[in-house]
Amino acid sequence: MDALKIDSDEWKNLENVLEEMIPHYDNINSRMTFGMDKKWRKILINESCNKEVAVEIGSGPGTLAMMLKSEKIFCVDPSAQMHKIARERLKQAKISPEKFEFITAPAEKIPVSNNVADFVCCAFAFRDFYDKKKALTEIYRILKNNGKFMILDIAKHNNIYGTLIYNYIKHIAPVITGSDAPKMLAKTYNAFGTPEYYADIMKETGFKNVQIRFLNFRTIFVLSAEKRI
Ligand SMILES: C[S@@+](CC[C@H](N)C(=O)[O-])C[C@H]1O[C@@H](n2cnc3c(N)ncnc32)[C@H](O)[C@@H]1O
Repeated sequence: MDALKIDSDEWKNLENVLEEMIPHYDNINSRMTFGMDKKWRKILINESCNKEVAVEIGSGPGTLAMMLKSEKIFCVDPSAQMHKIARERLKQAKISPEKFEFITAPAEKIPVSNNVADFVCCAFAFRDFYDKKKALTEIYRILKNNGKFMILDIAKHNNIYGTLIYNYIKHIAPVITGSDAPKMLAKTYNAFGTPEYYADIMKETGFKNVQIRFLNFRTIFVLSAEKRI
């Protein structure tokens, strides 16, 4: 089933699980993906190289944001707790916080003016947005003309292959990571749509040059699109 929305109670529950996961987040991610998450994030990091203003939505504890190369980086996340950890991490890594701006808000209502971003990205977060269509409209609004948008996430498939990925997240990942958190991720995977489905919604929203790239035996996808007026 392809989904556009997560109901409010489910979403709050998901946010609680994500916040509880923070101290172990990178470790769980790394174990679940056999360290490949770093390689996948590199695709977004490289894309940010020549982009002046970047916005990461669902920036969480800053795993990707602190590596983006843009001159100005907006980190958007509804969890103030995530931003607190991200700021601490910048400090620990001795990265100047000047170019970062932390915005506590959901993707569905981004308090940023129109046409400000050269690059918007979501890494392992789009799946968690409670109203994906609204989020895409907001992302389109804040992008400058010729700006680029990229989503990196686990690929949903509405077939037996999708069932295998679901079972890996639900039953095998908790054993590999020693954590129950992947069970919640399995729930969001189940409620996620296919990349092809979101590509169509992006085209409806006005995005151009919408392209899907699959990685690692189609378990991961990068969806990219541009705003061209
Ligand atoms: C799994 S973390 C991703 C962290 C980071 N992007 C990374 O590179 O690993 C997902 C993040 O999405 C955020 N999130 C959940 N719902 C959201 C929404 N509606 N709008 C924006 N961010 C949201 C969560 O608070 C969480 O910090």
